[in-house]
Amino acid sequence: MIKIKKRKILLLPGDGIGPEVMAEVKKIINWYNYKKFLDFETDEDLVGGCSYDKHGTPLTDEVFFKALESAVVMLGAVGGPKWDTVEFAKRPERALLKLRKELKLFANLRPAICFKQLVDASTLKPEIVSGLDIMIVRELTGGIYFGEPRGIKPIENGERRGTNTHTYTSSEIIRVARIAFDLAKKRSNKVTSCEKSNVMEAGQLWREEVQLLHEKEYKEVELNHMLADNCAMQLLRNPKQFDVIVTDNLFGDILSDQASMLTGSLGLLPSASLGAKNKEGEMRAMYEPIHGSAPDITGKGIANPIASILSFAMALKYSFNHDKEAENLEKAVQAVLEDGFRTKDIMSKGMKEVSTSQMGDAIISKLK
Ligand code: IPM
Ligand code: MG
Repeated sequence: MIKIKKRKILLLPGDGIGPEVMAEVKKIINWYNYKKFLDFETDEDLVGGCSYDKHGTPLTDEVFFKALESAVVMLGAVGGPKWDTVEFAKRPERALLKLRKELKLFANLRPAICFKQLVDASTLKPEIVSGLDIMIVRELTGGIYFGEPRGIKPIENGERRGTNTHTYTSSEIIRVARIAFDLAKKRSNKVTSCEKSNVMEAGQLWREEVQLLHEKEYKEVELNHMLADNCAMQLLRNPKQFDVIVTDNLFGDILSDQASMLTGSLGLLPSASLGAKNKEGEMRAMYEPIHGSAPDITGKGIANPIASILSFAMALKYSFNHDKEAENLEKAVQAVLEDGFRTKDIMSKGMKEVSTSQMGDAIISKLK
């Protein structure tokens, strides 16, 4: 067993705009170390396409072991068109999936919050999205992303068959549902569980296990079951009906992208991927913005660092139990938006357009 170093943060900026947004996170971590003596120990390394270019693999064993002994991995983004033709097993995305799977980060928390300062940035009408505060809990280490058998194989008639397997065990469903119920208790006390139990047995099991857990341990929380396609529709029709949504790996991937656009920009949304707590109460976790590597704007200094900075706020809260500091950082972000500072992705008339690093500096200037 590799022991987790409690204050260790491994920074993996990755590809595309990853290094640009991570630079702002580094400034914030330094601020906390010097001003609040929080004593974080950081290390930095390669992941994704840049690691492939240098080492021939998107995740070296050395980096993987560094991740294993870190309490927190801060990830930027991986991938880009440069690596589109790389063989499947060595694609930048495989690094991300290996980290999730091998660090056993089964619960992926993806908040979708619509800041009041940015109501107009959403493509939906203000009255539909203002005040929106949803938490999507996505199962992250199971389902069709990892199920066996998988692969592409020739078949007798000369065609090829591509196979992936959607599979869940009871315990995989129960542990992630428990996270969702516990979160709901601290929020608006409502969980919506999404699957396709009308067509998939794994979905039927999902519904049954969530229902049983609810009856056994969480009767005080309101629970609704919803088919995933209906959930996609309801997210656009009336998103404020949701509090916590719990769903599998694939539906969670899709529904969280959809939910993110309710808030105006993918550049705003953080995420946390959490593992189980060990006997000492320690837990591995990885934090990353929802957005990808955005090759189209890489190197221009215009990427929005807010998603990454808010990911660090989630780390402060979920990994380091610095709830007050997390709130402080979130408030600093809101104050900067209130002052009218905007990166290009959320720019609107009358506001001040700023670069990635100016946005980071402005947020730091609001920290107390
Ligand atoms: C996400 C991404 C990843 C996923 C990709 C990059 C492998 O879309 O984190 O949502 O599909 O999980
Ligand atoms: Mg996705």
